[in-house]
Amino acid sequence: MKAVVYTRYGPPEVLHLTEIAKPAPRNHEVLIKVHATTVTVGDTRMRSFTVPRGQWLPARLYLGVTKPKRPILGMELAGEIEAVGKDVTRFRPGDAVFASTFEVNFGGYAEYKCLPEDGLLAIKPANLSFGEAAAAVGGGMTALRCLEQGHIQPGQRVLVYGASGAVGSNAVQIASRHLGAEVTGVCSTANLELVRSLGAIRVIDYTRDDFTPDGPIYDVVFDAVAKVVPSHAKKALKSTGIYLNVHRHSDGSGKVRAADLLALQELIEAGKLRPVIDRVYALEQIVEAHRYVDGGHKKGNVVITVV
Ligand SMILES: NC(=O)c1ccc[n+]([C@@H]2O[C@H](COP(=O)([O-])OP(=O)(O)OC[C@H]3O[C@@H](n4cnc5c(N)ncnc54)[C@H](OP(=O)(O)O)[C@@H]3O)[C@@H](O)[C@H]2O)c1
Repeated sequence: MKAVVYTRYGPPEVLHLTEIAKPAPRNHEVLIKVHATTVTVGDTRMRSFTVPRGQWLPARLYLGVTKPKRPILGMELAGEIEAVGKDVTRFRPGDAVFASTFEVNFGGYAEYKCLPEDGLLAIKPANLSFGEAAAAVGGGMTALRCLEQGHIQPGQRVLVYGASGAVGSNAVQIASRHLGAEVTGVCSTANLELVRSLGAIRVIDYTRDDFTPDGPIYDVVFDAVAKVVPSHAKKALKSTGIYLNVHRHSDGSGKVRAADLLALQELIEAGKLRPVIDRVYALEQIVEAHRYVDGGHKKGNVVITVV
């Protein structure tokens, strides 16, 4: 099968398309024919081994000391089940699914991927294309996980900082259309209209204005790109307000995250959430796609069409 692999850390050019053996599902696994995957900022950081200071050693141990030990990136995918192991009961060949590969060594940049049937895997929302479904997974689950910890009530004021990214664009939609909050989105000039269209009642251009001059008026401030110094973000929070940061509040166990994926599926099918797609590339254009995401200014998601 076709797959994009990397055998050393570095620039986008370390990624190359090659042929590798097609996997076979074990008893409790499904074999997915991948139609679409994405390039997330996480993929680009693993490729280039860009990690925060102080995390070099743990990250190196996790990702591979001398070279990447998980050579196929791609943390989210959508596709069709081609075969199932003999113990599988939840899925059948022909089912269209969307999934996170975060807990199974990644692997979306390939024609096929095996996943345990009780993994982060669900039936694809009927109203999304495969590309949209792949893009719905990571940013959506992360936004849900973080916002849940804000205990947001209808009518509360929520500020989403970094509202145009994969996580931020989901957070604006979930907070406004699902939780009923009054959302203010912070983004750059080019993304003001996009963020408004996602449900923000107010937008602030971070290239021109600070978001704190109005004082402590927000019930929740969510930094979806982890770019604001927490003490500054807290100036906009009411005394009872809750500060959320994508790096600190996005963790969840496998079970919790599986529930998040199902919640996402419901929100999408109810028309409350739709992933924002910036660009679509073919698998053969993976180097170009990584170069674009390396720039740090994608709007929502970058999709890779696999077959
Ligand atoms: N996506 C996931 O599945 C996931 C999961 C867990 C954790 N995370 C973490 O969450 C963070 C965000 O991830 P993401 O995937 O949402 O990122 P992303 O989509 O790559 O973020 C790009 C967006 O960030 C905006 N941005 C860049 N600099 C900014 C600044 N100084 N102020 C405000 N906005 C800025 C850009 O808007 P402009 O062009 O307007 O600047 C762009 O739209 C990352 O640190 C990532 O590691 C992501």
